[in-house]
Order: sequence, then C-alpha cells, then structure tokens
Amino acid sequence: MVLTRQTSFYDAWKLPHPIGYPGHVVSRNELQKHIVKNVYSMGSILDLEPIINVHIQDLTSRIGNYTLYQTEPDLWCSLKMHVFAVLGEMLYGYRFNAVPQLGGLETYLSAIEGLLPLAANGTLLASPRNPVGIFFEYCQSSSKFRHLTISATQGFGIDLRRMIPKRCQDLLLGVDMTPDIIAKFCGISAIVGGGSGCTPGYVHKELLAALFGGTDPTTLTLTSTLYHLMRNPDTYKRLTDEVDAAYAGRSLQTPISYNAACTLPYLKACIQEAMRLHPAVGYHLPRVVPPGGATIAGVYIPEGYHIGINPAVVQYDKDVFGADADMFNPDRWLNGNGNLERMEKVMLAFGAGDTACIGKSVATCLVYKLIPHLLRNFEIRLAGDKEPVKKTFWFTLLRDVDVVFKKRDAKPKACRE
Ligand code: HEM
Repeated sequence: MVLTRQTSFYDAWKLPHPIGYPGHVVSRNELQKHIVKNVYSMGSILDLEPIINVHIQDLTSRIGNYTLYQTEPDLWCSLKMHVFAVLGEMLYGYRFNAVPQLGGLETYLSAIEGLLPLAANGTLLASPRNPVGIFFEYCQSSSKFRHLTISATQGFGIDLRRMIPKRCQDLLLGVDMTPDIIAKFCGISAIVGGGSGCTPGYVHKELLAALFGGTDPTTLTLTSTLYHLMRNPDTYKRLTDEVDAAYAGRSLQTPISYNAACTLPYLKACIQEAMRLHPAVGYHLPRVVPPGGATIAGVYIPEGYHIGINPAVVQYDKDVFGADADMFNPDRWLNGNGNLERMEKVMLAFGAGDTACIGKSVATCLVYKLIPHLLRNFEIRLAGDKEPVKKTFWFTLLRDVDVVFKKRDAKPKACRE
C-alpha cells in the first residue's frame, strides 16, 4: 500500500512569488528523485565536512566570547545561527554572514519564526485559499508588518534566487568550483544529461526547501540533546567520559570526523533518545489513502481520506518504550530489552519510507560532529531553573534554554588537538 503526501495540508506552505519559499515539499520527476538521492547521500555529504569544520570553529570562538563576557546565551538562538550559516554554505557555497547583500540574518530568521504559527495553523484550515498568501497580502498593506516580515523574507529569497543561475554558469565555465550542493546538482545533472530537469529554477526550490526545512529540526535536535544532558548530570558525565576516552585512545581528534563520532555508542543513544522526546515535527504527518481504501490497524478507511501519525505521540508510547517512556533514558537504545527493532520501527523523527527527510545525512553529520566537540571543549550548564519554552507549529521549537559555558581547561590530555 502506497500512501502519498499530496494532501492539501502542504498547500499552506507555498508562499507566493516572489518570496521564494516553494512549499515544504518539492514535486520531482523520477530523474530528479534519483539526483536528489545522490546529492544528499552520506558519501556526498561527507565531501562537505571541511565546511562544517570551519563553522564549528566559528561557533567555538563565539562561545569563547560568551565565557569571556560571562553572558548566558539562549542555546536555541546560538545553535540556530550556527545551523543556518553552515547549511547556507553547504547548500549555496556562500558564507551568508559574510555576504553584505544578504545582511540581516537575524531579522530573516526571526521573521521566518514569526510566520511559523500562521503557516502551521493555516495548514489545519480547510481553506481554498492559502492562508500564508492571505497574510502576506495583508502585510503588504501594513507598513508595520511590511518592515518586520515582508522585507526581511522577500529580500533574502530574491537574493538567493539570483545567485543560482550565476553559480550554475560559473560551474559550467569552470570559474567557480566551490564544492557545495549547487555544484553537486550541476555535476550530477551533467552526467545524467539533458532532460534531467535540473534547471536553475528547480535547484532554487530544492535549496530553499532544504534551508528552510533543515534549520529548525537540526537546531531542535542539537538543543534538546544538550538540554537533556544538562538536566541529567549522570548522562552528561557518562557521555563526556566516552568522548574523553576516545580522545585518549586517539580514535577522536579535532576536528572530529563524522565517521569517528559514529563509533561512540553512548553518543548515538543520547541523540536518538533526544530525538524521541523532541521530534522535530510535532504535528501529524499527513497522507492520502490510496484508491480502493486501506485497512490500517484493523480499521477500514475509504480512499481519499487524509490520515496521519504524529511522531510526538507514537514516540511516547509506553507499550513500545516501557513505563519510563516520558523519561530521558539513553540506555533503552543500548540494552533494548529485546525490543530494539520495535522501537526503531516506531521512530518517525525523520518520517518514513519514500516521503522521509531528504536531509537526514546532513543533519546526522552536523549533530554527531558538534555534540562531542562541545562536550570536549566546554562545560555547559543551565543558567537557572527556568523551564524552556516548547512551541509546536509543525516544527517544534525549544527556546529560552539559557546556559552558562565554561572552557574546559583541565580536560584529559589527548595526543593531537
Ligand atoms: C534532525 C534534523 C531533521 C529532522 C528531524 C527532519 C525531519 C523531517 C521529517 C519528519 C520530514 C518529513 C515530513 C513529511 O513526512 O511530510 C522531513 C522532510 C524534509 N526534510 Fe528534514 N529533518 C531534519 C533535517 C533536515 C535537513 C538538514 C534538511 C536539508 C538539508 C532537510 C530537508 C528536508 C526536506 C527538503 C524535506 C521534504 C522532503 C521532500 O521534499 O521530499 N531536513 N524532514
């Protein structure tokens, strides 16, 4: 049985031209699907590790300033700036924060975050008109909102769209061979040959969907992993010990490679557990029942009906995860109690099947490299008892996680750092 994602739910994400965001889901022909699969394969993403390493270094310096000036940054905001900048460079080959015409990153990010409630709740309305489009029309007539939202998102979207034809041309002429996702799209479509449909317009849609669709989920995974570690000092210490031992045994070195990070079982368990408790999408993942209808969990559902499963519900199922399903317990992924296969099957953090996240390799690579790097270099603790603010507008946000960073001077020595 094939359930498709083409429900009207996704229409609300299609912002009007020329804002540029094409909707969460890009429609692709078979060849484009094949190209996307190759572009985002783990092997392909690992070519871009040097870009990630530079951004991790930048973040480390920024955190160094927090320790110097004793500021208590919101983890969500700091990590979101990092994720957005690194994704931007992986996708477009540009350092967004160094390109003057793309100024106002923070304004852009807060404008997009401000639009999320509307876009997300709009998806739930059975409206023949796109609610986000209606909102934008309203904003255009309001000087107050035009400044806050339209100019921020519109300018950015237009600038990004303009970049792509020029980059494609420079790549064809061999003028600019920066390795990034644009280059990969152009390279693979050159091999596949004409008719691949990889026009600059199509590449623009793919990149914008990835930038928009990848930033919040990756930020959430990083923030929630660190948050749960801080709330559970035993797990924090156990993971730091695992990282330090790997440095001592020379299996980890700075910069931490993705492949080396993958050898740390407790790291993997902690990330998986954080993704279970805080899946990036906190609404149901909607699907259409195929022609002929379907019997699901013993219930017959006629064709054309919209159905869905919410990862934030199934991933707390006590039948699958046990009586402590509400707790952060990374050990459940290590001992499994004979239930590992079932737990893995129920995990929908990246979606499932044909419609699953295309950026899983990118996200996994970013998260697996950054968490051990931060634990190795800093002591991180919550600045107070304040509960973070968790909001779900399709994407789940975990804001107001104020933290104190302290440099780890007395970390156990390793051979090469
Ligand atoms: C930990 C981080 C991430 C999580 C948990 C996550 C989760 C998801 C989920 C659940 C879906 C499926 C939505 C559905 O079924 O309707 C999805 C789709 C998608 N994700 Fe991710 N994502 C993450 C990171 C990323 C990154 C880094 C990128 C880009 C590089 C990305 C790009 C996309 C795109 C473009 C789609 C739509 C898929 C399509 O067009 O076929 N995601 N993601």
